[in-house]
Amino acid sequence: MRFSRLSSTKSQGGWPSVRGNCRRALSTHAGCTCSYGMPFPLLRQRPVSGARFLSTSLVAHHRPNNTGPFRTMEDKLQSLAFRERLAAAYPWTKAPLIVGAPMRVMSGPELAVAVSRAGGFGFIGPGLTPQATAADLETAAGLIAAATAASGAPQAGPHSSSSALLPVGVGFQLWNGDLGISASAVARYRPAAVWLFAPANGQPDVDRWTTRLREAAPETRIWLQIGTLREALDAVRSASPPDVLVVQGAEAGGHGRASDGIGFITLLPEIADATQGSGIPLVAAGGVVDGRGVAAALGVGAAGVAMGTRFLASREARIKKGYQDEVVRATDGGGNTVRTQLYNHLRGTFGWPEQFSPRTIINRSWVEHQAGTAMEDLKKRHDEAVAKGDAAWGPEGRTATYAGTGVGLIRSVEPAGEIVEGVRSEALGIVRRLSGLSH
Ligand SMILES: Cc1cc2nc3c(=O)[nH]c(=O)nc-3n(C[C@H](O)[C@H](O)[C@H](O)COP(=O)(O)O)c2cc1C
Repeated sequence: MRFSRLSSTKSQGGWPSVRGNCRRALSTHAGCTCSYGMPFPLLRQRPVSGARFLSTSLVAHHRPNNTGPFRTMEDKLQSLAFRERLAAAYPWTKAPLIVGAPMRVMSGPELAVAVSRAGGFGFIGPGLTPQATAADLETAAGLIAAATAASGAPQAGPHSSSSALLPVGVGFQLWNGDLGISASAVARYRPAAVWLFAPANGQPDVDRWTTRLREAAPETRIWLQIGTLREALDAVRSASPPDVLVVQGAEAGGHGRASDGIGFITLLPEIADATQGSGIPLVAAGGVVDGRGVAAALGVGAAGVAMGTRFLASREARIKKGYQDEVVRATDGGGNTVRTQLYNHLRGTFGWPEQFSPRTIINRSWVEHQAGTAMEDLKKRHDEAVAKGDAAWGPEGRTATYAGTGVGLIRSVEPAGEIVEGVRSEALGIVRRLSGLSH
């Protein structure tokens, strides 16, 4: 999608920047006007930010008192109310919300900006070093400024206005992240949201990051990715609840719950019931690669979806060709992907908290590991394969190919914007067609 199209459909002013008052709109305003004259959607009910509402309600009554089959449809399906809150906070996004998940190194600024430009919400993943995030945000700011300038609209970005937020997010991995460096990057570039994941010590670590990041950039919203009901409840009951909860199912590529993960089809509605009334929107992640997955997520109460693996097969992904080819080639995510620490260790990555492990496409290293080959030999063969470049991936390859169970549904590499628009439009088509079931 070209930028001009985004401009013409979303506002008179080109890139729809988010400004400070937008965040407050979530909690107090019935409607407001964003920068460049872009109107906020009017909210039908008084919206609440998770952080504020929880101090009075959810902490004391985390279980809804109208549980069971007699819950109203509105209670069961919060997708629409959630959507209104997210539209107010992120006015450039279109429904249903398609999020580009932060994938370490592979979700760079080009991918994140392309996703946001198509009406999704793109997140930049953690970099190889903590310092890399600031460089990626600088690049994203430049891409956004260039696109805005090309559209003839006023400039947006960290260097143009004291209160503008960048219409992209950034992800941090808590267990090995550097909070000081991360907070200073967020304070300087002000992404619209940060996405927290993988604390070593659970909610206390999340609280520490949340508090510090909110101090650094009060208008940047906090998204937290969790994979169990327990983590969700800890988050919403905490003194620093997140603004959005990403509910990651076991299908997800990359790191997720090592042994107690389940599919979001049951996890998300149970969390929705348990956090009812918190006002915290839920986003589903794990195994969504097309409109069918989005429709399923909306049906169980999500406001939208976060996709990682699908965007590995995008033109803008920061990924080696051999890796990307394998994501397109692989089928049967049940048979050909597995959660294991093996590939972390082969690559020399140690220290991940034991509650997390990554899902990867299997190859020779896994097959030989299963057959009992010693780690020392596997490591030697791995390193030799990596030296060969793209041949390190594929069924006969040996290195990490982190990807989710949805690989069998990915058949080509596309521009990220086209993926966002195609998935969104397919989801809307499914929802419309399903309404025919009532006739
Ligand atoms: C290659 C890869 C790297 C990932 N890296 C991160 C990361 O650094 N931080 C994070 O919060 N999630 C990460 N994830 C998980 C995503 O946030 C998301 O939960 C997942 O991609 C959703 O499932 P899907 O891959 O089936 O779409 C990664 C996923 C993949 C595939």
